Amino acid sequence: MLLVFLQGVQYLVENDLLEWRAESVAEFLYKEEGLNKTAIGNFLGDREEMHLQTLKAFVGLHEFSDLNLVQALRQFLWSFRLPGEAQKIDRMMEAFATRYCDCNPGVFQSTDTCYILSFAIIMLNTSLHNPNVKDKPSLQRFVSMNRGINNGADLPIELLTKLYASIRSEPFKIPEDDGNDLTLTFFNPDREGWLLKMGGRVKTWKRRWFILTDSCLYYFEYTTDKDPIGIIPLENLCVRRLQDTSKQYCLELYNPKGQKIKACKTENKGRVVQGKHQSYKLSAAGAEERDAWIDAIRASITKDPFYDLVSLRKRKVIGNTSS
Ligand SMILES: *[C@@H]1O[C@H](CO)[C@@H](O)[C@H](O)[C@H]1NC(C)=O
Ligand SMILES: *[C@@H]1O[C@H](CO)[C@@H](O)[C@H](O)[C@H]1NC(C)=O
Repeated sequence: MLLVFLQGVQYLVENDLLEWRAESVAEFLYKEEGLNKTAIGNFLGDREEMHLQTLKAFVGLHEFSDLNLVQALRQFLWSFRLPGEAQKIDRMMEAFATRYCDCNPGVFQSTDTCYILSFAIIMLNTSLHNPNVKDKPSLQRFVSMNRGINNGADLPIELLTKLYASIRSEPFKIPEDDGNDLTLTFFNPDREGWLLKMGGRVKTWKRRWFILTDSCLYYFEYTTDKDPIGIIPLENLCVRRLQDTSKQYCLELYNPKGQKIKACKTENKGRVVQGKHQSYKLSAAGAEERDAWIDAIRASITKDPFYDLVSLRKRKVIGNTSS
């Protein structure tokens, strides 16, 4: 089909009906009705220079001024079908974020902030509307997952509330929907559930609600808490089964270099401090659950490249408190 599409474009070019220039091709793809949107997505996602230029011109034809991010994403994601490949999606979302920020200066501190939030929203769409995702994140959860992404600062709560409400009331529609929710294919290893966790200082087991997402493990006291008690970034860590004398079905997160794990923890008064763990010992309710956690954590550590792209940016903007 892509071939037919390309041949169509080539035919037009050869017959002087279309100029082989990024601006003209972009305009054709943007305005012509009845084109196959999957093919448009594949065309725009290609890495060759002409395609990169066309993508830029195509995104430039979208007018996002005074639209909130969800409105802009609705428009953008309807104009072609996002291809299912990490690098392509990355380029397209980067182009989108750049255009959005150009049209709406002052809304976000950086393009990365816009990029990360766009992803958080696309994932939120999947979490809220895909029947395969059981736990539906609350607004508070959405807000706390986006802490610090505005170059170290938080985004206005009114903005996040509005975006959340918009997605909850109406899912993103994508063209040529074949029932394959494309974010679910690469946004898979997320997992959540109760685990027992051995304390770092006080060596007792405590029951915690764990959420695995964005290559981080978050743990909460209650499922409904808005802020996690602790956050464990998983990069550079390993996970293994552990035999423990006091509990069954244990797993352990450890640093293969034997160093202390870099993690953070919120104290009673809300102060964030460095974690004190040499390793994290966790215990699941059964063998199957323990193994499922180990698999999910492993998948999330070795993640597909796309997740690295997002979490890299996230670390960058959260660490960037120069604003
Ligand atoms: C659009 O193109 C894709 C592949 O490029 C093909 O799988 C799909 O069937 C096409 N859709 C229509 C409606 O022709
Ligand atoms: C939003 O969620 C719905 C329901 O799962 C899905 O069909 C659609 O493809 C999703 N949109 C995006 C852009 O992921």
